[in-house]
Amino acid sequence: MARRRIRQRSNAPSADQTVSSGFSVRVATAADLERVSEIKVRNWADTYGSLLEPAALRPFVDRDAQLVELSEKLAEPGTLLLVAEEGPGHIVGFALTYLDDEPEPWLESLHVLRELRGAGIGTLLMRRTAEHVIARGHSTMRLGVISGNAAAARFYERLGGTMIGLEPVSWAQGVAHEMYRWADLSSLAQS
Ligand SMILES: CC(C)(COP(=O)(O)OP(=O)(O)OC[C@H]1O[C@@H](n2cnc3c(N)ncnc32)[C@H](O)[C@@H]1OP(=O)(O)O)[C@@H](O)C(=O)NCCC(=O)NCCS
Repeated sequence: MARRRIRQRSNAPSADQTVSSGFSVRVATAADLERVSEIKVRNWADTYGSLLEPAALRPFVDRDAQLVELSEKLAEPGTLLLVAEEGPGHIVGFALTYLDDEPEPWLESLHVLRELRGAGIGTLLMRRTAEHVIARGHSTMRLGVISGNAAAARFYERLGGTMIGLEPVSWAQGVAHEMYRWADLSSLAQS
C-alpha cells in the first residue's frame, strides 16, 4: 500500500473534520459501534495474539462482548469516541478516550485497520483526540501499551508521549503495560 501523507489542521474540534487526503475524523455515534467492534477484535487478534495467553485474549476477540461494552461506554458522558473514515461511511480506525478517568483522561483504545497502517491515520486520530480533550477542559492524558507492543510504544514516543512506568493490567495475571503520558497536550493538538 502506497503511503498517503495527511496534511494536519489545527482548527478547534468540530463534529466532522475532513482532511485533504481523503481520510476524515468525526465523533462516533451508536450506529458506528458494530464496525468499531469489528476493527477492535481484528486488531487484538493480530497485535496481541502472540503476546497474550488465549484466556486473557478471549474477551477482546469476542465481537458481541465488545459491542455490549462499547455501547455501555458510549452512553457515559465522559466517553470520547472518534472514528476515522476513508470516504463516507467506511470506518478504518478509531480512538476511544475516557475523559473522566482519574487522575486524568485515559486513552483506552487506538486502532487502525492493518491494511491501512502507516498512512497517518493513527497520528490524525491522536491529534484530533488531543484537540477534543483540550476542548473539554483537560491538558494532560495517559494510556497503557501492553508490554511487547514495541511498534505502538515507538508511535506514542514519536508523538511526544513520555514513558512514566510499568504497571500490571487489571484484566489478566502476569501482564503489564507501559504507561505513556502527555503532560501538555497542546503540542500534540497543534502540530
Ligand atoms: C499503533 C497504530 C494505531 C498506529 O496507527 P497508524 O495509522 O499505523 O499510524 P501512523 O501511520 O500515523 O504512524 C505510523 C507509525 O506507527 C508505528 N506503527 C506502529 N504499529 C505499526 C504497524 N503495525 N504498521 C505500521 N506502522 C506502525 C510506526 O512507527 C510508524 O512509523 P513510521 O511511519 O515511521 O513507519 C496502528 O499501527 C495500529 O492499529 N496498531 C495495532 C493496534 C495497536 O497496537 N494499537 C495501540 C494500542 S496501545
